[in-house]
Amino acid sequence: MSTEHQTLTLNDGRRIPQLGFGTWQIEEEDAPKAVRTALETGYWLIDTAAIYKNEKGVGEGIGDWSDIFLQTKIWNESQGYDRTLKAADKCLERLGRDHVDMLLIHWPQPERGLFVDTWKALIELRDQGKAKSIGVSNFREEDLKQIVDETGVTPALNQIELHPSFQQRAMRKVHDDMGIITQSWSPLGQGNGMSNETVKGIAVETGQSASAVIIRWHIQHGLSVLPRSTNPDHIRDNFKALSFELSDEQMAKIDALDSKDGRMGPEPGNFND
Ligand SMILES: NC(=O)c1ccc[n+]([C@@H]2O[C@H](COP(=O)([O-])OP(=O)(O)OC[C@H]3O[C@@H](n4cnc5c(N)ncnc54)[C@H](OP(=O)(O)O)[C@@H]3O)[C@@H](O)[C@H]2O)c1
Repeated sequence: MSTEHQTLTLNDGRRIPQLGFGTWQIEEEDAPKAVRTALETGYWLIDTAAIYKNEKGVGEGIGDWSDIFLQTKIWNESQGYDRTLKAADKCLERLGRDHVDMLLIHWPQPERGLFVDTWKALIELRDQGKAKSIGVSNFREEDLKQIVDETGVTPALNQIELHPSFQQRAMRKVHDDMGIITQSWSPLGQGNGMSNETVKGIAVETGQSASAVIIRWHIQHGLSVLPRSTNPDHIRDNFKALSFELSDEQMAKIDALDSKDGRMGPEPGNFND
């Protein structure tokens, strides 16, 4: 099975790879090597953010590599129309590129009350060609509905916390109904997911690593997924998720691991720092 370039179609007609490479907590100095290893392995979606403070290293790792789908995110304190336009230019400068493939609002920050203006800036940046596609991250249903109501533009994707212990079924349904791609952050539960006994059992059954099993579960649910690693063996191992299949029974066993207390990161409505 050759699924190396398995993609999903965004609501703006463009295509996005399902499997991507996350770079949160990868230091600027380590980013070039990690990103280059990922690209050489076959990943072509790379996810960074202004707040990760590694965009320069990510840009260096990409260099003149041509098969690339690059995402970055506008940080909270840069929200607002003019500030977002300026912040996006700074991202591009650090990345050393004239555009990104996907630009996201990192968090809705409801108490700031600026995410609609921020979204209008992203629409402008898309019109200018500085972002080929635009989306959001950590938006709740009401936040999504508000930006669509006020601008008529639906985000192409929403990047949210999603892993076997926190499966976000309600948000996935909202996204499906609105034509928004779901992209999973912390897909491995920040590395904790691999110690689950069910996952370990399926790893033995399939002859794959526990990590690849979890990533495969995301892929078979039609999600875009962003595992992160600085270990070249892990980077390559995770890529194997594109070349085997889980049975319906194995998928159901992982589906059963969902927990209402499984969230690891902040609750988006309460995160206003
Ligand atoms: N939008 C947001 O608010 C938001 C929030 C959090 C994350 N994200 C994005 O989502 C990406 C992924 O989330 P994450 O970084 O929290 O964590 P993650 O991908 O769920 O887990 C990363 C951890 O798993 C370990 N790991 C990876 N592959 C492994 C393997 N094959 N075997 C054993 N251990 C393995 C890594 O260690 P090693 O390095 O040792 O392999 C690391 O400790 C981020 O990098 C970022 O791009 C977005």
